[in-house]
Amino acid sequence: MPIQAFKIDMEEIRKRARAHMSKGAVTSAYGEDVDRVVAVLQEVLATEIVCELRYRAHYYAATGLRGEIVKPELLEHANEERAHAERVAERIDQLGALPNFDPATLTKRSHAAFEVGADLVALLEEDLVAERVAVETYTEIVRWLGDADPTTRRLMESILAEEEHHADDLAGLLERVHELGLR
Ligand SMILES: [Fe+2]
Ligand SMILES: [Fe+2]
Repeated sequence: MPIQAFKIDMEEIRKRARAHMSKGAVTSAYGEDVDRVVAVLQEVLATEIVCELRYRAHYYAATGLRGEIVKPELLEHANEERAHAERVAERIDQLGALPNFDPATLTKRSHAAFEVGADLVALLEEDLVAERVAVETYTEIVRWLGDADPTTRRLMESILAEEEHHADDLAGLLERVHELGLR
């Protein structure tokens, strides 16, 4: 299908931009209900914070010679989840809302659970499960956003790609730990 000529009413857009300046980045081109998007992003923020905390707990829980193999990866993941949380909070702020950092309700709002495994394998399995949960829910969010909010969709797509990378890393680590007979 040929691409239609790009036609916009510049005068009308300038008028609206000026009339609703207090809304910051949110203009009338915003297709999705902004409150609904913010509510979903708050869940993502909670998920990212819980994931950071879980990885940080696992970093210290993985001890001894066996733990040394996985420690660097766990720390790297913790820091990457922190970065995800910051990017999501930034977007919530751009959409005119206050990012929710309330620790009292964090695990209730998170998609992924905070579980510390009993041993190294159990711990890595918990991380893999949490990543697989995130991959699934973030994929749904990307689909749900569609063309309604391309900026949030791109953000979620880029975080999703990193969660897939995390899941892949964990599957690799579990394989190595199993190969070495370490439990
Ligand atoms: Fe993340
Ligand atoms: Fe992750």
